[in-house]
Amino acid sequence: MNIIIFGAGAIGSLFGALLSKGNNAILIGRKPHITAIKKNGLKIEGKTNLNAKIKAESSVDNVTFKPDLLILTVKSYDTETAIIQAKKIITNDTIVLSLQNGLDNIEKISKHISSEKVIAGITTHGAFFSKPGGIKHTGKGTTVLGELNRKKTKHVDNIVKLFNEAGIKTAESKNVIKDVWGKAIINSSINPLTAIFKCRNGCLSENPILEKFLEIICEESVKIANADGIDLSYSDMLAKTKEVVKNTSDNYSSMLQSVINRKKTEIDSINGKLIEIGRKYNVSTLINEILVNSIKSL
Ligand SMILES: NC(=O)c1ccc[n+]([C@@H]2O[C@H](COP(=O)([O-])OP(=O)(O)OC[C@H]3O[C@@H](n4cnc5c(N)ncnc54)[C@H](OP(=O)(O)O)[C@@H]3O)[C@@H](O)[C@H]2O)c1
Repeated sequence: MNIIIFGAGAIGSLFGALLSKGNNAILIGRKPHITAIKKNGLKIEGKTNLNAKIKAESSVDNVTFKPDLLILTVKSYDTETAIIQAKKIITNDTIVLSLQNGLDNIEKISKHISSEKVIAGITTHGAFFSKPGGIKHTGKGTTVLGELNRKKTKHVDNIVKLFNEAGIKTAESKNVIKDVWGKAIINSSINPLTAIFKCRNGCLSENPILEKFLEIICEESVKIANADGIDLSYSDMLAKTKEVVKNTSDNYSSMLQSVINRKKTEIDSINGKLIEIGRKYNVSTLINEILVNSIKSL
């Protein structure tokens, strides 16, 4: 399959390296990373160890083929710019798969691409960008993907098969929008709390005050989801959030890393979007507002 992975950072480079075996795959990313990959290949260390010889460019203008699949792996604040750039190279037959976190990516993509061509996915793999040309795979996870309208299609079947063949354990989601919401609710507490209190994920279960805070955030975020018609329960989401805290207890969340590295965070696409949706339905958004303001002040 002809694949463009747009956003050669942590997760895009990992998926790109794995998909480059047996596919015509190309990474689109920033110049230092692309130059290093062109020179020495892409080195993945940690849970996966490989040196991938993968095509890489800093702009879609240098891509010479038409993609069957475009995988979007930029941070949510870059989604719209990325899709506008990618539009130059995609055709009516290209499927666009968002593997990003946040509640506004699909909306941003669908402004520029017919939503029939858009598939959403969620992955629990963990990775970080260690240096140009190098990625650390910190946690092996699973991936689910599905059509926005929940229909079973050959596109999803083909991509699920393709990912599994590349060693990316993937299943079809029965309701991918619900899965995107589920991940956003988990991230709505873990990400800002760890970034504000500058702690590992595990602190959120070790410190009773932070654990209580996590519970309050989860409750408010679930109420907002329910108001928007998303059938998720507080007890289930709280149990899942606590499970992620336990399984990633030594990790530093991506939001904390962004704050430390003085980079933009995805707060607007997670807690910010929760506030926007909550206000629409007159559901209290006070806790999410405190979190957004605290992160922005950092
Ligand atoms: N990392 C994980 O473990 C993980 C796991 C699950 C889901 N996710 C989600 O996956 C998405 C990507 O996360 P990530 O951690 O992989 O982010 P990341 O490391 O920041 O990767 C995104 C890369 O795309 C580059 N980029 C952005 N716009 C571009 C453009 N127009 N042209 C070329 N390159 C561009 C960025 O460069 P600059 O930084 O210079 O802008 C960055 O190198 C996020 O939504 C995240 O929440 C991540």
